Amino acid sequence: MNQRRIVLAAAVFTLAGLITFLVCLPSAFARQDIGLQVQGKLMATEPAPFIDGSRIMVPVREVAGNLGAEVTWDEEKQAVNIVKGEYQITLVIGQTQAVVNGETINLDAAPVIMAEKAMVPVRVLAEGLQVPVSWDSAARVVSLGKSALVAGSSLDFPPFEYKEGNDIVGFEIDLIKAIEEMWGEDIIIKDVSFDRLIPSLRSGEVDLIVSGITITEDRKKVIDFTEPYFVWSEMILSTKGADQDMGLGDLAGQKIAFQLGTTGQELVADLAEKYPDTQLLMFESLEEVWTAVEKGKADAAVISYPPTAHYLKNHPDNNLQMVGQIPSADSTGIAVRKGNQELLDKLNKSLKTLEENGTYDRLWEKWFGSGR
Ligand code: ARG
Repeated sequence: MNQRRIVLAAAVFTLAGLITFLVCLPSAFARQDIGLQVQGKLMATEPAPFIDGSRIMVPVREVAGNLGAEVTWDEEKQAVNIVKGEYQITLVIGQTQAVVNGETINLDAAPVIMAEKAMVPVRVLAEGLQVPVSWDSAARVVSLGKSALVAGSSLDFPPFEYKEGNDIVGFEIDLIKAIEEMWGEDIIIKDVSFDRLIPSLRSGEVDLIVSGITITEDRKKVIDFTEPYFVWSEMILSTKGADQDMGLGDLAGQKIAFQLGTTGQELVADLAEKYPDTQLLMFESLEEVWTAVEKGKADAAVISYPPTAHYLKNHPDNNLQMVGQIPSADSTGIAVRKGNQELLDKLNKSLKTLEENGTYDRLWEKWFGSGR
């Protein structure tokens, strides 16, 4: 008797499960995931955009963020606020009314939350931020914004590239802006940590690297460089009072800091191979390297001369000083994917023009003070 009951209960459960599955099936089929392209670059988002009837819903934070907008969330009002320059959009979860650039409009679908992310109709982003939107029905890809080149840069490198509040500024950023202006094309700057720049270029996530990147034989095997536009060198940084006139050999057996993926790392790695008791301390950003030396976590650092010299000049009160310069004949260039000759030629031509028309000297003066 008891056994029969169990069998019956199991059957009822299975039936209930089947019914639930069948009822949910049509909506699961109606909601189809689609591809997404923002400013010419395919993006993988979580959750993926989906099409429901004729409405395309996209995850607002990732998409608006990649269009250069700032996205904030008001938990209490369940509202998403999107701001880019003078453009502003406010959307509320579950509501079809939205405020777009000061006007209240009706949406054909209400924003929803999926996997803790706000999904909003793509059209309201396109209209609110004034970017073109298109739908490729064959490939099932929605595209937002016109295609633009993306320059990868590790924005931790004043005065070459760094952040000032929300602005991205620096000598190399100005060079890119001057090129952008000459071409009449958009070049978007994407912040990528230095050690990830070359992989990002090779995978197509970025189209060029503008990041004080030294032209080295090893790197030339995997990426291409423009003509050099800045002569580079490294320095040994330590605390005030440390011995002066140090060379790399003097660092044997000490704790040495460097920025991951840089030429400084190569120099220190060679040293550690020769003197295995040397301790290596790697950091993702330049600022972490400076701090490690200042706080005494590292005895010294091997790092790029120009940004560190600039930092020391602007922070005379801190406990850091240059204790040695490592001579090198290295230079910096803009990097492109191996074989992207068209972009390389275009960049070389523009760099030459900027040199000839005095822009380069003007920017040098602006960022490094005295003439070169
Ligand atoms: N010149 C050095 C190199 O190519 C360091 C460049 C670091 N750049 C940066 N934006 N953090 O390895």
